[in-house]
Amino acid sequence: MERREIEQLVRAHMGQKLEAEGKRAYIVAANWKMNMSAKETRAFLRELCDTKVPEYLDIIIFPPFPYLPDAQKMLRYETVTYGAQDVAEQDKGAYTGEVSAAMLADCGCSYVLAGHSERRAYYGETSDIVARKASKALEYGVVPVICIGETLEERRSGAYKEVLKGQIEAAAKVCKEKPAQCIIAYEPVWAIGTGVIPTIKEIEETHRYIHDVLAAGRDAGDCSRILYGGSVNANNVKEIASVPHVDGFLIGGAGLKVESFKNIIKQLSLDGCL
Ligand code: 13P
Repeated sequence: MERREIEQLVRAHMGQKLEAEGKRAYIVAANWKMNMSAKETRAFLRELCDTKVPEYLDIIIFPPFPYLPDAQKMLRYETVTYGAQDVAEQDKGAYTGEVSAAMLADCGCSYVLAGHSERRAYYGETSDIVARKASKALEYGVVPVICIGETLEERRSGAYKEVLKGQIEAAAKVCKEKPAQCIIAYEPVWAIGTGVIPTIKEIEETHRYIHDVLAAGRDAGDCSRILYGGSVNANNVKEIASVPHVDGFLIGGAGLKVESFKNIIKQLSLDGCL
C-alpha cells in the first residue's frame, strides 16, 4: 500500500475519532508559490519536523516542483505531508513544461493545488481546466485542493455569489463521487497578499454559502472540507478558525518563514481553542 493510501485511511479514522470526541480536524497548509531555495526548503522542513503538532492539525506544505524530492526524503516518517502547486490535465505526452499527476504520485505527493487564483488570472485557467486537473489528480490518488475566489469588483458589485457558484459547481462535478477526498480553498482574490481580510461575518456568510452549494442534494456530512486563504497570520487565525465551515487554512506569505508558520500552528494548538 502506498504511503498516500495509508495516510488517507489514517485520516479517515482520525476524523471519526475526533468527531466522536466533539473536535474538528483542521488543515494548515502553506503554499510557497515561486519562493524558497533548496537550502531554505531543507532548513524549514527540518525545523517543522521538530515542532510538536496536535493530532487534530493536518500540516501540508506546497513547495515548488524542484523541492518535492526534498520533501519526499525529509517527511518520509513524519506526520507533516506535502503536495504540488499544479498538475497537468493530460496523462502524459508532448506537453513541454507540464508535470503529470502520475509524476506527482511518484514524488509521494498527497495533495495538489488546482486553480489557484494566480493560475486562473495569469495562465488563463478556466473552471473547466481546473476541473480536468482535479479529476486527473483524483485518478492517481492525489487529493485536489480546488481553489476558488472572487475579485474585488465581483465582491463589490454583489456578483460574487454567482462567480463562486460557477467555480464550485465545476469542482463539485469532479468531487461528486469522492467529496471527502476533495478539498475546496476559498481565497478571495482581494485578500491574497494584501493584508486585507474579509470581516468574520463575510467569511462566515461565504463559507456557509459554499457549503450549501456543495451540499445541495447530498447527505449531511458528505461534503468536501473548505479552507480559507488570504492574509492569514498568527494574529487572525484563531478567530477565523472558530467560524463554522472553516476547516482549515491555505497560507501564503506567513507560511514562508518557519517561525511565523509555527506561530500559526501554536495559535491553533492552544488548549480549548478548537
Ligand atoms: P497570502 O497568505 O500571502 O495572502 O496568500 C494566500 C494564498 O494565495 C495561498 O494560496
